[in-house]
Amino acid sequence: MARTALVTGGSRGIGASISKALKAEGYNVAATYAGNDEAAAKFTEETGIATYKWNVADYDESKAGIEKVEAEVGPIDIVVANAGITRDAPFHKMTPEQWHQVIDTNLTGVFNTVHPVWAGMRERKFGRVIVISSINGQKGQFAQVNYAATKAGDLGIVKSLAQEGARAGITANAICPGYIATEMVMAVPEKVRDSIISQIPAGRLGEPEEIARCVAFLASDDSQFINGSTISANGAQFFV
Ligand code: CAA
Repeated sequence: MARTALVTGGSRGIGASISKALKAEGYNVAATYAGNDEAAAKFTEETGIATYKWNVADYDESKAGIEKVEAEVGPIDIVVANAGITRDAPFHKMTPEQWHQVIDTNLTGVFNTVHPVWAGMRERKFGRVIVISSINGQKGQFAQVNYAATKAGDLGIVKSLAQEGARAGITANAICPGYIATEMVMAVPEKVRDSIISQIPAGRLGEPEEIARCVAFLASDDSQFINGSTISANGAQFFV
């Protein structure tokens, strides 16, 4: 029977490419989204991938949503914690609200997404936890104290989960995309974006599909001994 994958933030940006790549690999895929009903409906129509709306920052909503997905699609074997937001501001201008919004969605959101599926993975002795972190969690970024904190936090999460899940056949890994051609990066002021691209030895932004292919590999049986790792996919912009 085909395994089931859940991709948070899976109807747009990198998440949409991940959902499509996992479907192409033969998984049953469910994608979550936070607010854009129109984009989600269009995505489902075009891809046949079921979409579910909930706020990953809310534990009860996440748990209820996951129960619905498990009832309608199947027990979740692969979870891709991809949903994330930015609220960029230099630290002296960053508000507590901007701090909390990003922490709640990007970091607590990972807990809220993985915790409800963890017991089932332990029981079934198989699981794949894949967290989409960021180059900016590795190197920090001007105006992203909040975002960088969450993305660095992702790396601590997977290293800890890897140790807890290893004997139960569960792996937990992170991918750190560099700057990828998505709405999030296109929202950066053009001058700043051009300066960022000039710092990428590959001379270009990454494509969402280049991240999706990393996810497909980590989801597969071939990756069983890769656990607690970080794959950097950034066009040689930064080395850990
Ligand atoms: N390094 C050093 N200085 C920088 C800088 C940088 N990277 N970026 C901006 N500055 C400087 C500016 O030159 C300016 O200096 P002056 O005051 O001397 O002119 C100052 O910082 C900016 O001050 P502003 O008051 O103009 O800043 P602002 O409140 O308008 O904020 C900003 C502007 C939010 C920082 C904007 O420049 C921005 O969005 N920068 C991009 C941040 C970024 O890279 N975000 C990544 C988004 S993509 C993503 O997150 C996906 C992923 O995982 C990779």
